[in-house]
Parts: sequence; structure tokens; C-alpha cells
Amino acid sequence: MLPEIDLTDAASLPEGALKTFPTPDDGPQVLLTRQHGQVHAFAPNCLHYGAPLEKGKVVNGKLICPWHHACFKVKDGHLCEPPALDDLPTYAVREAEGRILVQVPASPPASTDKPEATPTAEVGGVPPAPAPAPADTRTFAIVGGGAAGEFAAQTLRREGFAGRVVLVSADEHAPYDRTKLSKAYLAGKAKPEALPLRAAEFYAQQRIERLQNTRVIGLDLEKREVQLEGQPPLHYDQLLLAPGSTPNQLPKLPGHDLPGVLLLRTLSDANALLAATKDARQVVIIGSSFIGMEAASSLIAVGRAVTVIAQEKVPFERVLGPEIGQLFQQLHESKGVRFEAEAEVSELLNEQGYVAGVRLKSGKIIPANAVVLGVGVRPATEFLKEAFTLEDDGGLAVNANLQAAPGVYTAGDVARFPLAATGQPTRIEHWRVAQQHGQVAARNMLGQQETYAAAPFFWTQQYGKSLRYAGHAERWDKIIYHGDVAKQDFLAFFVQAGRIVAVAGMGRDTDMLYITELLSLGRMSTPAELRPGMSWAERL
Ligand SMILES: Cc1cc2nc3c(=O)[nH]c(=O)nc-3n(C[C@H](O)[C@H](O)[C@H](O)COP(=O)(O)OP(=O)(O)OC[C@H]3O[C@@H](n4cnc5c(N)ncnc54)[C@H](O)[C@@H]3O)c2cc1C
Ligand code: FES
Repeated sequence: MLPEIDLTDAASLPEGALKTFPTPDDGPQVLLTRQHGQVHAFAPNCLHYGAPLEKGKVVNGKLICPWHHACFKVKDGHLCEPPALDDLPTYAVREAEGRILVQVPASPPASTDKPEATPTAEVGGVPPAPAPAPADTRTFAIVGGGAAGEFAAQTLRREGFAGRVVLVSADEHAPYDRTKLSKAYLAGKAKPEALPLRAAEFYAQQRIERLQNTRVIGLDLEKREVQLEGQPPLHYDQLLLAPGSTPNQLPKLPGHDLPGVLLLRTLSDANALLAATKDARQVVIIGSSFIGMEAASSLIAVGRAVTVIAQEKVPFERVLGPEIGQLFQQLHESKGVRFEAEAEVSELLNEQGYVAGVRLKSGKIIPANAVVLGVGVRPATEFLKEAFTLEDDGGLAVNANLQAAPGVYTAGDVARFPLAATGQPTRIEHWRVAQQHGQVAARNMLGQQETYAAAPFFWTQQYGKSLRYAGHAERWDKIIYHGDVAKQDFLAFFVQAGRIVAVAGMGRDTDMLYITELLSLGRMSTPAELRPGMSWAERL
């Protein structure tokens, strides 16, 4: 039995408190909470990027992280929602004679409190138990080793599936954190070791077979076979399609395929971009998408001169509205990024076989040693054209259980699913949504009938400033603001047909945590009920 540490006075932990305590001799910190009179003890940092969980909240028996809303069951630390991947370590704790006593292992899983760049693998949680012996002869195939694919594979094991799990991925790398590519990785703050979602041993221990660098080129629904490029077909009993997105190019423009014109989707893309911009003085980014703007923020941070060329008047205007767009534009300009707004590119200039600049339709020329395209993505569903009737944008329609056909499920960027809040078929390109889809689809592959009911959530980080966004608004009638957008401290409520359908927030992590829950539960306030400074906790 581990020695008990006398952590604190029981009175210092009132009902509902969530607080981190030090241990003697600079030992590991311990997070305590008291819920319904009972004390629970945990590792203090989130397993995703190390957020201090004492700044999170306990809602309906779940401990929710303040940054990207991973959540863990209070009773046992069990992971209930991504983007964390593992259970939160818990410690034995008891109260005696007015003191709180905790047993903390000598070397508990490392926990960190770094800015939002800490990799999952470094933080160290409690991964699923080793996969059970292969008592089941079924093969569950997953196409796509990204956010949705990885989470689906681990969910199959968490749910006790003992058959074969095959993860097929066109990427040459094992599943990694794509969201870091445009942020910490491009800014030189995250090393390559910080990118994999899982250590290699994880897949062996979980008996997840990875077919890396393997492209799926077709699907035979009748034979239940996935056709692989240059390899025999793979039979499946249940199939998950999670191939994500392909970045758009500028194919109609002269010079679109010159060396030095770069995309940013994969780790290989990011490595090529790092190599091409290493000695580049001037980088032009075409498109003020999230990826383009995050790349701008990272490249400015490493001393490049960056110009963003955008069709919009201000960045993110169509997603976040002009006020928040302006905030981001000013933030970028204050760091030295130049903007060519409402501009269109007519040509990429060629100098000795390498890109040398961009000509705008206005005739203006912007010199460049490298050009990054951030002009949107489309579902990577070319290989599904014969098996399914795809949507106009290449998406694949699924029902509320994320099912596309008998035995076939779809998750992540490609899935057009009925959004719980509106019932409308919707396609969403967010990391956490893809993981949640992976979780729901995996459970349904095992015979459950789960629907995806959460409010979509995403974040972006530029110059260390994080914007969080919950819900979904492709259009809106008005935006109601609480706080001050210019001071980077606000909530923005997107109102459509008299309902709040989405909320964006900066500097309001606690509010955003509660609001995301309310949107997920379908209990969001009406516009008329909004009051500055209102208590969101009370509504839950
Ligand atoms: C640079 C960058 C930064 C981002 N930052 C954020 C962020 O901060 N917050 C946020 O919410 N979202 C962010 N996103 C979006 C988020 O990463 C995606 O929404 C998410 O990765 C989608 O997950 P997915 O599993 O559907 O697809 P992906 O993660 O793209 O994975 C798809 C997988 O399928 C494989 N594949 C594709 N076609 C085939 C085929 N024919 N055969 C076999 N395998 C195939 C691919 O190689 C890949 O492994 C970012 C995206 C990028 C590119
Ligand atoms: S740091 Fe907790 S969810 Fe990201």
C-alpha cells in the first residue's frame, strides 16, 4: 500500500470545490474535488494539452477541461469526451479527523502545465487495457488514420471488441495531431516527437493493425471488400470511412504547380513547408482560412515577412462576422502581417523554375519566396464515387447513427450528418467533432444505436490567443456581443430565426464550457434571456 499524504484540512475543500494542492518535498500536485460530500483525487492536468483542470468545472458528474472540453467521469476518471485520449489518473483518498489523506504513486504519470502546445503522449494518462484475446473472428476496417480513425480504433477496444481492427491510412505517418501543424509545429515550438497521438507500442498492445502508406481506391459493398492500391482487397465485417479532407489547389492559374507553392494538410506538407520557408524572407499566404491565418501567425513568429491575400474584406467574415474578423486582422497586422483584402490572384510568377511572387488581378505584384495555399478543403471521397451517390461537395450522407449503408459508417470531415440542434444535414470540419464521430461510429459498429448529439466545438489559436466556438452557424440574422471584442474579452451569440445557434468566445473559457454543455443539451438561452454577466452555471 502506498504511503498516505496528509494533503489538507477537510474544511479547505467545501462542497463543489475543485482545487489543486501541493504535496510535500515538491512532490506531484493533486487535484481534489468534493461532490455530494465525497472527496475525489486526480492528476491535476488535462491529458490533452495539459490545461490546469482546477480551472475546469464539474457538470453532471463530469470534470470538463476549460480549454477544449475533454471530459472525465468524476467517480473514476474515465474519459467520456475527446480531445484527450485516455482516462485521467485517480488517487485513493479518504477523510479522517478533519484531514484529507491521499495516496499518490511515487512517480505518477507526468503532468504539465504548459501553454496549449503540450502533446497528449507527454502528459500520460491511463490508456485502455490491453486488447482482449482474439475470440472474435470479425474484421472491422477503418479507412483513415486521422482524428476520427484513431479515436474509432481505440473506442472499439475500450468497448471490448476482441476481433481484428485494421486501420488503413494513405498517410506515411502513424496518426498525429494535425491541429498542431499550423500552430506549434510550424512555429518551431513543437518537435516532431510531440506530434504522434500514440506511441508505437500502443497499437501493438491494442492489436490495432496499421496499414500505413496504403491508399484505398474503391469499395465493393456487396462483397464487403475495400480495394487497396497495389495490394489484395481487404474483407471487412464492419467498415468505417474516415478519409478526411483534401486541400484545394488553384488549378486554373498559371504557375499553380510551381515548386514553392505549398499546401498544409499532412505532416509531410508541414515538413515541406518548413523546408521551403527556412530561408524564405517573404511568404505569401493565399486565403484567410483558419489554416492560412494560423500559418501566418506561426511564420511571423519565426521571422518571415508574411502577406495574406484574401477574397474577403476581413478574415473569417463568413464564419465569425466582421467584428471578430477585424479583431484577428488587427492582431495580425500588429505583428507585421500585411493584408491584400478583396483581392484575387491571377498568376503565380515563375523565376528559374521556382515561385517568385503573386500577381493580383489588379496588376499588383507581391514578391514571394514561398506561397502557401489556404483556400479550403473538400472531402477526400474520390474513391467512393462508384459505391455511393456523393453530395455536391463530395460529402457522404449518413443517418443520425452515422451509418451510410448496412455495415458501413462514416465519420469526421466527410460525413454529412443530421445536426442534433436543427436536424439539418451538415458537414463539419473540426478535430473534436471527428473524434466524437469516431467514438459514436465505433459503438454503432458494435451494435449500439448511438446518435451524435453534442454541440460541435472548435478552437483556433493565433499569437497565443485562443478563440473557442460552440454550435454551428452557416448564416445568421444578427450577432449579440457581451464584453468587448476589441479587448479580446467577449462572447458573441449568433442568432438565427430567433434562436442562438452558435457562440464564439475569447477570454471566457468558463462561460464557453457551460455554453457548450447548454447547446449540447438543447437548453441554450433565448436571445431575450441574454444578460451581460449572467450566470451560465445556474442554467445547467
Ligand atoms: C493544419 C491544420 C490545423 C487544424 N487545426 C484545427 C484546430 O485547431 N481545431 C479544430 O477543431 N480543427 C482543426 N483542423 C481540422 C481538423 O484537423 C480536421 O477537421 C480533422 O482532422 C478531421 O478528421 P478526420 O479524421 O475526418 O480526417 P483527417 O484527420 O484528415 O484524417 C484522414 C485520414 O484519412 C487518410 N486517407 C484519406 N484518403 C484515404 C484513402 N483513399 N485511403 C486511405 N487513407 C486515406 C488520410 O491519410 C488521413 O490519415 C485543422 C486542420 C489542419 C489541416
Ligand atoms: S487541454 Fe484539455 S481538452 Fe485540450
